Amino acid sequence: MAVTLPSAHAMRIVLIIPTFNERGNIGRLIDQLQAVFRPLKHEMLILVVDDNSPDGTADVVREHQRHSLNVHILQGSKRGLGAAYIRGMRHALEVLHADAVFEMDADFSHEPKDVPRLTAALEQGADFVIGSRYVSGGSIPREWGLHRRLNSRFGNIVARYVAGLYRVHDCTAGFRAIRADVLRRIDMERFRVQGYAFQIALLHAAIVGGAKVVELPVKFVDRTVGESKLGIKDIIEFFQSAAWIRFQSSKVFIKFCITGAFGVLVNLGIFTALLAAGVNKFVASPIAIEASIVTNFLGNNYWTFRSRNLAGPVHARGLRFNVVSFLSLAISYLTFVVLSHVLPAAAPQVPQFIGIIPATLVNYLLNSYWTFRDHPRESAH
Ligand code: GDD
Ligand code: MN
Repeated sequence: MAVTLPSAHAMRIVLIIPTFNERGNIGRLIDQLQAVFRPLKHEMLILVVDDNSPDGTADVVREHQRHSLNVHILQGSKRGLGAAYIRGMRHALEVLHADAVFEMDADFSHEPKDVPRLTAALEQGADFVIGSRYVSGGSIPREWGLHRRLNSRFGNIVARYVAGLYRVHDCTAGFRAIRADVLRRIDMERFRVQGYAFQIALLHAAIVGGAKVVELPVKFVDRTVGESKLGIKDIIEFFQSAAWIRFQSSKVFIKFCITGAFGVLVNLGIFTALLAAGVNKFVASPIAIEASIVTNFLGNNYWTFRSRNLAGPVHARGLRFNVVSFLSLAISYLTFVVLSHVLPAAAPQVPQFIGIIPATLVNYLLNSYWTFRDHPRESAH
C-alpha cells in the first residue's frame, strides 16, 4: 500500500526526458526548465535518456552540463521509448536517489510551466500524477488531424476497456510525476515492452500496487521542431500489451471459477453426508446449497477478491452474494427449461450443463461489480 502522507519536506525530483533526434529542442527545454525550477523548494534534476541520436542531441546536453550540475545524461542504443524510460528510471532511483521522477517529452508538447503544478499534487499526497489531456480543462492541439485524434482517442479506449484502466481518462499520457516508492514496488523487467506501450504497462502496475492516481488537466502542444517517432511497431505492441494486461487480470476470474468448483464439491459432499445421517433429501438439498454458497462466499471474499479494497461489513457482502447466487440459480434453471424444449432429443445433462455457463458469467459480473466492488484509493481528478 502506498504511503500517501502529504510531504512538507523537500524532495529530490528527477525529470526523465527521453530523446531521439531532439537537437532542435533539448537545449531550449533545459533552459526553460531551469527557470521554472528556481522558485521550487525541491532539488530538481534533469536526466536526458538519449538513444545515441545521430543529430547530436547529446552534444547539446553535454554543453549544458558544463555549467549546470543538475543535468545528467544516459546514452544507449535505440530500443524504443519504453526501454529508454526503464533505463532512465532505474538510474534515477539507484544512482540519483530520486524521491520522485517525472516523465516528460523533449519536444515542448509538455509545457515546462506545468511542472510546479504536477509537483504540488505530489506534495499533497498523490503517488502518480498524470498531466491529462482528457479531463475538463485539458486539451489536444487544434492542428491535430482526424487521424492523430482518432489514434489517441482509440488508444485510450483500448487502454480503458481492454486493459481495464477504466478510472483514468488519459492512460497514454507521457507527462507524469511519480513517487519513487511506487516505482520501487514495480518490476519493470516483467513488462516486456519496448515502445510507447510502456505508458499503460506502468500505469497498470502502479494501480495494482495501490498508487493514488491524480489527473490534472494540461494543454498538449504540437511540436514545432522535429517529428514524432510513434510508429506502427509501437501501435501493434500497444494492443498486445493491453491484451496481456487483460489476461493477467482474468486471473481473478479463474480464481472465481476454482472457488465455484470447490463449492460444487462442498454441495455434493454435505448433501451425501446428510442423507447418510438420515435427513430427508428435500431438507438436505437446500442445506447443502446454502453451505456451498457460504464456502463460495468465504473463498471469494478472502481469496479471489483479496487484493481489492472492500468496503462495508462482511455480512452485507454475504447477503449480496446470496442474492446473486439465487439469481444465477434462476438463470441456470431458465436456460435448462428453454434448452430442454429446443433440444428435446438431447440427454438432460446437456441443457443442465450449458445452463452453468450464463449463470457463471452473470454470477461473476454481479459479484465483481457489486458484491466485491473495489473502492480504489486513487481518484480520477
Ligand atoms: N530515448 C528515446 N528512445 N527517446 C525516444 C524514443 C526512443 O526510441 N522514441 C521517442 N523518444 C522521445 C522523443 O524524442 C520525445 O522526446 C519523446 O520521446 C516523445 O516522442 P514523440 O515521438 O514526440 O511522441 P509523440 O508526440 O508521438 O507521443 C506523445 O504522446 C503520446 C500519447 O499520445 C508522447 O507524450 C507519448 O509518451 C504519449 O504516449
Ligand atoms: Mn511529441
